This record gives sequence, C-alpha cells and structure tokens, in this order.
Amino acid sequence: MAVKKLKRGVALVGAGMTPFGTFPGLNTRDLFVQAFQEMRASVDKGFDPKDIEALVIGNYSSTMFEGQNFMAPYVADAVGLTPIPASRVECACASSGLALRQAIMTIGSGLADVVLVGGLEKESDLPIARVTDVLATASDSIYENPAGFTFPGLYALLATAYMHRYGATPETFMRIAIKNHENGVLNPKAQFGARIADIMVSKQKAAAKRGKPVPQWDSELDFLKDDQANPAIAWPMRLFDCSPVSDGAVSLLLVAEEIASSFTDKPLHIIGYGQGSDVPTYERESLTTIKAARIAAEQAYATAGVTPKDIKVCEVHDCFTIAELIAIEDLGFFKPGEGYKAIEEGLTSRLGPRPINSSGGLKSKGHPVGATGAGQVVEVFKQMRGEAGPRQVPGDLNLGLTHNLGGSGMAAIVHIFERRQ
Ligand code: COA
Repeated sequence: MAVKKLKRGVALVGAGMTPFGTFPGLNTRDLFVQAFQEMRASVDKGFDPKDIEALVIGNYSSTMFEGQNFMAPYVADAVGLTPIPASRVECACASSGLALRQAIMTIGSGLADVVLVGGLEKESDLPIARVTDVLATASDSIYENPAGFTFPGLYALLATAYMHRYGATPETFMRIAIKNHENGVLNPKAQFGARIADIMVSKQKAAAKRGKPVPQWDSELDFLKDDQANPAIAWPMRLFDCSPVSDGAVSLLLVAEEIASSFTDKPLHIIGYGQGSDVPTYERESLTTIKAARIAAEQAYATAGVTPKDIKVCEVHDCFTIAELIAIEDLGFFKPGEGYKAIEEGLTSRLGPRPINSSGGLKSKGHPVGATGAGQVVEVFKQMRGEAGPRQVPGDLNLGLTHNLGGSGMAAIVHIFERRQ
C-alpha cells in the first residue's frame, strides 16, 4: 500500500478531560464544557476560542443513550463556538479516534489552522440491559446480534480462539486486569480508583458490616478466580475482564505545525496516522488478530517513519482484557502468540520495558465509548510532556502511540505523536 502523507504537519497543543465514571444529573453537553475548560487551561500560552475554525466530535450514540441526535451543533453552542462548522463522526468505540483523524485531515489539507476535537458519551442513564442493547447495535444486526452476541460475547469469542491457538489461560487475562487497576489507582480521572487488592478488602468489610460470612482470598488471582466475586459475563470474560459502563468527555486542540509555538513550547507533533477496517467476526480468517488494527498500525508506522521498537508510551483499546493482549501483538510489540508470555512476565507494566495503558486503560479508567479514543490521547499528552504525576512513565518519552478499536475490531485507528523539545 502506497504511503500518502499530509500536505502539512499538525500538532496537538492542548488536552483536557472530565473524570470518567457515572454522573447522574449531568448530560453530555455539561461534561463537554468541563473537558473544554480543562483543555483551555492546558494550553500554556493561552488562546482565544474565537481562533477555533472547526469542531469535530466523536459520539457513538447520544441518540439512543440520551434521546439527542445531531449532537455537534449543540456541543458547539455549549462552548460558545457557533457559527463555526461543527461535525459529528461515528465509528462505534473509535468515534473520537476518528474525530481526531478528521481534524488532522482538515488542518493537513489547509482548510483550517485551528480545530477542536471532542469525544463524548453518557451511557449511565439507562439500565444495564438497555446499555448492552445499545452497544450491541454496533455488532452485526443480521447475523451476530440475532445469534445472541453482545460485546462481552464477541470478545469472549476472540479470547477462546486465542487460548485454543496459543495456550494462554484465563489467568493471563486476569493479570491484565490487575495491572490496569494498579495503573488506574494512580489516575485521579479513573472510574475505578482502586487496586483489586483494595476492592477485596472493601468487599470483606461490607460482608462483615452486613453480618455475613467474610470471604477470604489468598491473593488477587485467588479473588479473580472466585465465581462469586468475579462472575463470568461471557466465559472466559469475567466481570473484571470488562470495561465498565461510563460517562465522560474529552477535548483536544489541534493546530497547524507552523503556528504551534504560539500556543505552547511543548507541542506534540502528530507524525503517524492510520485507519483500517475489516469484515465481521464470522467472516474472518483469524480470530486471534484484528486485521484492521494491523493495517492501521502499518500505515501509522510508515507515515511516521518509525518502528514499534521506537514507541515509548502507548495506550491501547482494552475494552476487554483479551483486546489488550491482541493489541500488543497487532502493534508489533510482540510476535503473534508471544504477547501473553510478555504479560505473564510483567513486561507491560508501567515500570516495565514496554509500558501499556499507564492511564489504567479502558478497564480501570473507564470506557464512555465515544470519548475513549480522545481520552487515550490525553494520557499520551500528559506522559510525553512529563505531566502525569505519580503514574509518570520514566524515561525520555519522545514517541507515543494510541490504538482505538471500533466494535469487534471492524475499525481501528492508530496515531503516533512526537515530542521534539
Ligand atoms: N469491572 C469491575 N467491576 C465492575 C465492572 C467492571 N467492568 N462493572 C461493574 N463493576 C462492579 C461495580 O463496581 C459493582 O461493585 P459493588 O457491588 O462492589 O458496588 C458491581 O460490579 C455491580 O455493578 P453494576 O453496575 O450493577 O454491574 P452491571 O452488572 O450492571 O455491569 C457489566 C457489569 C460487566 C455487565 C458492565 O460493566 C458491562 O456491560 N461492561 C461492558 C461494556 C461494553 O461492552 N462496552 C463496549 C465495549 S466494545
């Protein structure tokens, strides 16, 4: 595939997000206003919002979650940006990864110099059965959905295929959950600000308070293997293998590279960009890799002129723990079938040689689906600028990567960021 590049460079100069969690009483627009204000504060040299020439938001389904279709102009109005062009893109859980890509193309083409990217979703107003149904509308409505597949079910399919082919066990997935909860506890924006060990203690205290027998577990793995504490949602994906139901919003400011220095001395240059698509699960040649992600990664590495070895910090789309395992192979960090060994050896921990999901990932930070792709960028922005506080990944983080999946992996979007100072 020929590598085609932007006509001019694009830089990320500001990034902000709400906490991810469940926020009764706040709607998507309220959340976006918060994220926008935080983004404004992150632009070191300040800027006038009147300089923003376009808004692109990623939103999966405010239509079904909140009964509000046509969200882009409402969001533009909420932050006082009308009458600029305001567009919404939808790509399931990769909606704001796609919004970022569209904004990059808008600047890269010369159509605008300053573009605001949003990612937003408000899922928690509906009961869980309805949330599951709404999410499942991103699966195939002709074959997968009528066969009873939900998203936990689809990723369980990939997990069983991976175990069967390579010999991984459910314990591998549990180790991913343990790691991501370890990272999330250091992230004040994370939905689950607790290690699994902390959750064990709180469950024991709750049982004692209710006068019930106090459960005993020897270790985090022992807890995660307990069918009561960690029930199967779709075997082998248990509760702690799933990302949660979340609300949240994210705001990113992109500018043409040549004007970036008037916004900040620490811009991140977006040097790699790729997007791929694939067939539904029932037509795939292999269920142990996500082809769309491999294609997106190949394009991103080619446009950036870097290799997987060069990447220092990385956020991947762990909507379920198996997705993180497949991602680290699809991105070329580990060979196919080797990723699970790397996880078991702790190589992907925050202080390990290949840190993955220092934010806590979707598993622990939360997964308001339309906000997720842009949320990954916030983490890379903070890490690469040395602003990640207690969860700062050590070293000179000059290159970072984000990997955002849509649905069961029928879409994937990868971006690579470079810090030059
Ligand atoms: N991981 C760990 N714990 C979780 C959790 C998760 N993903 N989701 C909920 N919990 C905990 C809650 O904190 C609560 O704990 P408590 O009893 O100690 O207070 C308990 O589980 C029950 O919470 P509840 O909100 O009632 O859970 P639920 O049964 O409504 O939802 C899932 C659990 C797994 C079904 C839901 O999180 C889910 O559907 N996740 C997948 C979302 C998805 O498919 N996204 C798209 C991906 S492509």
